Amino acid sequence: MASLSNRKLLLIVTGGIAAYKTPELVRRLKDEGTEVRVVMTKGAKAFITPLTLQAVSGNPVHDDLLDPAAEAAMGHIELARWADLIVVAPASASAMARLAHGFADDLFSTLCLATDAPVALVPAMNRLMWSAPATQRNLRLLQDDGKLIWGPNEGLQACGETGAGRMLEPQEILQQIKEFFAATFSLHKEMAENAGLLAGKRVLITAGPTREAIDPVRYLSNHSSGKMGFALATAAANAGADVTLVAGPCPLPTPAGVTRIDIISAEDMHKVVAASVAQQDLFIGCAAVADFRPMNVAEQKMKKQDGQNQMQIALVKNPDILAWVAEQENAPFCVGFAAETENVQAYARKKLERKGIQMIIANDVSNPELGFNSDNNAVIAISADAEHHIGTNSKEEIAKQLITLISSKL
Ligand code: PMT
Repeated sequence: MASLSNRKLLLIVTGGIAAYKTPELVRRLKDEGTEVRVVMTKGAKAFITPLTLQAVSGNPVHDDLLDPAAEAAMGHIELARWADLIVVAPASASAMARLAHGFADDLFSTLCLATDAPVALVPAMNRLMWSAPATQRNLRLLQDDGKLIWGPNEGLQACGETGAGRMLEPQEILQQIKEFFAATFSLHKEMAENAGLLAGKRVLITAGPTREAIDPVRYLSNHSSGKMGFALATAAANAGADVTLVAGPCPLPTPAGVTRIDIISAEDMHKVVAASVAQQDLFIGCAAVADFRPMNVAEQKMKKQDGQNQMQIALVKNPDILAWVAEQENAPFCVGFAAETENVQAYARKKLERKGIQMIIANDVSNPELGFNSDNNAVIAISADAEHHIGTNSKEEIAKQLITLISSKL
């Protein structure tokens, strides 16, 4: 678990009976070496005095957006920038509503809008207020905005009722804070480890399906969502590569720092790859390219004839883009994917040899939970002399591990 020593935590106390537990939280945080500053709303001061929190935190309590003295010492923007994490405890129903709707008319709401630090809310309220449709709607909005929600607990409430709405105990909030910093720490560590692995390298990746037109309104295609290829592009960019992503039709956002070129058909993809492949260090063919396309594309929408029960469409082979890249002079290191439903390793190994590439990533697409159009995958990276198994995991995690593996071969 990551240490809390020297972490900067801004505690915002809003109005609720559970505010009486916050001095205990501040004391425990200080024991862990955390720097704590406290903001109180007007409502909070009805339950606990600023002096108490000032005494335990060792810092003046901030409570007014328009206090010239406080602004001269550490203004609200500086406070918002200072924090590694903002914890709102207790977060009342009113505080949740104000944050969900972007109010900025007091110190608490303005700080939460003006920060790029993560904001965690620790709700505390009567059980009916918690389950009220408006609170639940605000909760969803806050979650969609990326706010962390810790709790509430169920149990006996200050009002004498029993149900969900009790604030987590100080020890439980401390545990959540520790887990938050531990997760952030391991993420940063992982990014730092992967960071520079592909620095200075140029990487070309294909992703998603291709569509092969039959007529102006119909096409042949497959179930590729593009998720695996986009995750690879993200991982390669995070590893420092200059990434070009050639994407078939898939409504995914472009990964940060990646150059994206959208295409429709296999022939389009081939043209774009051919124009971009020079000087690439690595080519990853993750797209599910249609092997065949209709021989003739009807100019007008095809009409069915009276009594017609069958139709045939003649298909011709599409260019094999991966094999084409691998046979170029000064070809980059080539990695293909093999989507198989049986004899996965044997068929993938045949593709590795037939296409003349350095590595093939075999995935068993017979399981609907993995491979095509799912969030997870499980793969075997096969090269001439080695096999590397990566068990079921998110496509993002698999992509990170594949990029680490591939970069070790470049
Ligand atoms: O997009 P997702 O929903 O996330 O799903 C990911 C995936 C299952 C599509 C991906 O992991 C995958 O397996 N991609 C390759 C699918 C495929 O078409 O495999 P294949 O065995 O038919 O082709 C082998 C390799 O040759 C692939 O690298 C393919 O990109 C390439 N190929 C194939 C045909 C062709 N005409 N040109 C090619 O470059």
